[in-house]
Amino acid sequence: MKILQQRAIDVLNKNWKDTFSIPCANLYPFQWFWDSGLIAIGFAHFDMPKAEKEIETLLDAQWDNGFIPHIIFHTETDTYFPGADFHKSSLHPQSSKKYKSTGMTQPPVTGFVLKELYDTSDNKKASLAFVQSVIDKVYHNHEYFYNKRDPQDEGLVYIYHNWESGTDNSPIWDDIWKTMNPPDYTFERRDTTHVDASERPSKREYDHYLHIIEIAKAHNYDDAKIAELSPFLVQDPLFNAVLIKSNKCLIELYELLGDNDDKIAQLKKWQDKAVKSFDNKLFDKEVGAYIHYDLRNEKPLPYLSSSSFAPLFSGIPSPERAETMVKTMMKKFGGDRQYLCASFDPTSERFNPKKYWRGPVWVNLNWMLYKGLTSYGYKDIAARVKEDTIALIEKNGFYEYFDSRKEMHTDGSGGYGGNDFSWSAALLIDLLS
Ligand code: DGY
Repeated sequence: MKILQQRAIDVLNKNWKDTFSIPCANLYPFQWFWDSGLIAIGFAHFDMPKAEKEIETLLDAQWDNGFIPHIIFHTETDTYFPGADFHKSSLHPQSSKKYKSTGMTQPPVTGFVLKELYDTSDNKKASLAFVQSVIDKVYHNHEYFYNKRDPQDEGLVYIYHNWESGTDNSPIWDDIWKTMNPPDYTFERRDTTHVDASERPSKREYDHYLHIIEIAKAHNYDDAKIAELSPFLVQDPLFNAVLIKSNKCLIELYELLGDNDDKIAQLKKWQDKAVKSFDNKLFDKEVGAYIHYDLRNEKPLPYLSSSSFAPLFSGIPSPERAETMVKTMMKKFGGDRQYLCASFDPTSERFNPKKYWRGPVWVNLNWMLYKGLTSYGYKDIAARVKEDTIALIEKNGFYEYFDSRKEMHTDGSGGYGGNDFSWSAALLIDLLS
């Protein structure tokens, strides 16, 4: 294990670029929001200054309205599409003057990441001083979500693009693509020059992705206009579970800091409403877990994915519901020939174990599931998630995602997407600590 841990440390140091980390060379050459947060959790175990710098740089790119972009384009490079010139985030009047970025966001991990950093630190005083220096920015980010991304005042925020979900090409979005008919754009993909096309989204999927951005750009990334016009408007259980977990951690951290009663009261208000709505609206009894809700077309999207189980990480389900979810997980995802946890229902005809978020196992979701299952007392299943994660990395390397079928892991070629992928390394370090 020591060797694996050292290799993970080497991956993180290799992907460190002075003030932030790239997810991996070539395929993702900038700073990504949720990658950055999860990477900091790994650094915290052996290099706290880097962990803190990672978060500082991320928050330095925050917009005046509290928004944090999903990609921060620190450098000029044409090896990634769509780059800064496509996104044109400066169209938004409150965008960062300092950094070019996208005009979309990603699961808001920062709140719980700060708590992870604090918990890992062996110098609590110094760690709390760091938290004090950045926490209001994270609070401001949550303010943005509840004020701008919740048009019906439900306590649940929407995402307006599949790239905001983090689960970019999930089969769940197929239903939404059916409601759209974007132009057949001409553009040059870069991802498929770095990674086999069979592991990446299709050209037609990219047409949809670009089309949503064109609509947002036509309205200068105005939130109200996006809420009114975006063909993609979804309440995502992973995204909202992450926000809820981060709310909870912000409350705990503000309590440790003291003197923040107003912010604590506001966070508790958001939290109470969020947890109730989440539990009422997103739990599907027939599916046996939480699902996505299509706010644009006002209909539930009744599909099982690893996002369906993310609420365990945030303590949202009652113990009874958690039991139902775990049964669903083991029945559909937990067969002897499967590694836990596929990103999409392995029993569905939309399942594809090689293609990005249409089936492969991802380390970040496994890390959340491990934590969630442990907190609900499912020690054995949590242990299996952890062992499976370690086995996948040991057999293949620090890939971005992994084939969920056990028979695919006999010759070390079951890892897909980018190699030496930062969060796979970072979260392995945390799992082994
Ligand atoms: C990509 O380029 O596929 C990224 O995941 C977008 O965030």
